[in-house]
Amino acid sequence: MIASPIPTAGNPAADDESGQAAFDAVIAADSRIEPRDWMPEDYRRTLIRQISQHAHSEIIGMQPEGNWITRAPSLKRKAILLAKVQDEAGHGLYLYSAAQTLGITRDEMTRQLIDGKAKYSSIFNYPTPTWADMGAIGWLVDGAAICNQVPLCRASYGPYARAMVRICKEESFHQRQGFEILLTLMQGTDAQREMAQESVDRWYWPALMMFGPPDDESPNSARSMAWKIKRFSNDELRQRFVGMLVPQAEALGVSLPDPTLRWNAQEERYDMSEIDWTEFHEILAGRGPMNAVRIQNRRNAHEDGAWVREAAVAYARRQALKAERQVA
Ligand SMILES: [Fe+2]
Ligand SMILES: [Fe+2]
Repeated sequence: MIASPIPTAGNPAADDESGQAAFDAVIAADSRIEPRDWMPEDYRRTLIRQISQHAHSEIIGMQPEGNWITRAPSLKRKAILLAKVQDEAGHGLYLYSAAQTLGITRDEMTRQLIDGKAKYSSIFNYPTPTWADMGAIGWLVDGAAICNQVPLCRASYGPYARAMVRICKEESFHQRQGFEILLTLMQGTDAQREMAQESVDRWYWPALMMFGPPDDESPNSARSMAWKIKRFSNDELRQRFVGMLVPQAEALGVSLPDPTLRWNAQEERYDMSEIDWTEFHEILAGRGPMNAVRIQNRRNAHEDGAWVREAAVAYARRQALKAERQVA
């Protein structure tokens, strides 16, 4: 037998001590943990929480933009937006599948979401009253998602990391299409430019909140970083994001709504105003402007789809019966 150069964490039957040693070796070698491997219970639980919240965010995230599909200003815009929203559904499905490899069922995750017990990204609880919001969401929200998710392509859990590779490619397209919507508006009439700026003003701060609380108030971050699920701290990612936005805002001709934002050459970071975390915590507690609507829509969609699930089960049963008869 040829010894594998890549360490693996052994099988699930491994006792805790040898399992932990093998797990630690995989993490130290920057290799991947796979579903068959032994893993600490906390690692499994953390991943289930993170991946399912991520999946829910993709699915709920279809709503703010789905709201504009029938009202997009041209056939081309409609086709692009439709493709983008469908991509988000796909992201949700890859991620639910990745979470299932950790021992939670799709039904359990769906139940947690429609019962209002699961968390998802706070950003999707804001309304989308104008067409420019499709631009600002693509540019800022998908842009923040890219900053967050590119490092996840190297996360230590194999199925999560692999799902993220494809997701990130699609997120780049989402960010470009948002940027392009804003660019078109900024080259248009005064009213269009105002609409673009007003939308950027509304989405900028919520997009910065997407990276989560400041590092000194993010108790689980250190552990996730030790497990190599997370590679950069919340504040580091926020800095990277702002660094990406500044030249792009200039190219667009929009201003970022933070009068204190400036590059601090000495500390090699951006100085910026305090984020209003009370707003963030209110939304996480379910009291954002659109929380109830988002969950109600999801619940309705699930109930409306009951006949599809029943039909699929009946069909599978009939196929199994047919196969049985053929064997007999
Ligand atoms: Fe996505
Ligand atoms: Fe996206």
